[in-house]
Amino acid sequence: MHTLFSYDELKIVPYTERRDVSLFESRTEDLNAFLKEDALENQKELINKTFLCYHFNQLVGYITFTTDIIEKEEVQKEGRIRVKYGEYPAIKIARLAVDKKYEGKGVGGFLLLAAVGKALKISDEVGCRFITVDSKQDSIGFYEKRGGFELAKKRKNKPYPTMYLDILPAIEKTKPITTELGDFI
Ligand SMILES: CC(C)(COP(=O)(O)OP(=O)(O)OC[C@H]1O[C@@H](n2cnc3c(N)ncnc32)[C@H](O)[C@@H]1OP(=O)(O)O)[C@@H](O)C(=O)NCCC(=O)NCCS
Repeated sequence: MHTLFSYDELKIVPYTERRDVSLFESRTEDLNAFLKEDALENQKELINKTFLCYHFNQLVGYITFTTDIIEKEEVQKEGRIRVKYGEYPAIKIARLAVDKKYEGKGVGGFLLLAAVGKALKISDEVGCRFITVDSKQDSIGFYEKRGGFELAKKRKNKPYPTMYLDILPAIEKTKPITTELGDFI
């Protein structure tokens, strides 16, 4: 049983050139390489935007966002109409990783909470109803368990199946905590 980090001890900051990410090592090599080699360049090109997560002064994880659209058929629930428009605006978790030394301490869950905070903030300015992610097969359980994400229908059999979270109900659930954390992202 791991001891979780307290949310007070975690902070999220935008990734800039001043940040040293050279020692970051998650279990997934291409996610380490993305952070070290491509993230800042992508950011300059306005392709995606990366935020770093620190436990005090230690870099423990990161999350990268981009924009997305999800079709009604992908998120429709059996037997009841939950959504009514043809397609919905979304933000997509393009990358998410936690340093392997700090796994199981709640950093991944905190990054998902930050994604909800980010979606809420964006939806204050422009429409944004869903958070999406193309998950690695072995991370599906993490998104389900820690974020309440569900598998999108049409894309279930892809190597990286699309998952989604409807932020409308999530707003109510996470309001107390996102309010307490304030403008943390
Ligand atoms: C997946 C990852 C982000 C989890 O980060 P983390 O900081 O360890 O996550 P948390 O501590 O918030 O949550 C861990 C919980 O999720 C669970 N979990 C993690 N992966 C899981 C999986 N595949 N299926 C089910 N549960 C999973 C753990 O069992 C743990 O549950 P517990 O608290 O009941 O023991 C991290 O392992 C990682 O970076 N992996 C490599 C990169 C990756 O897969 N990124 C996602 C790419 S789409």
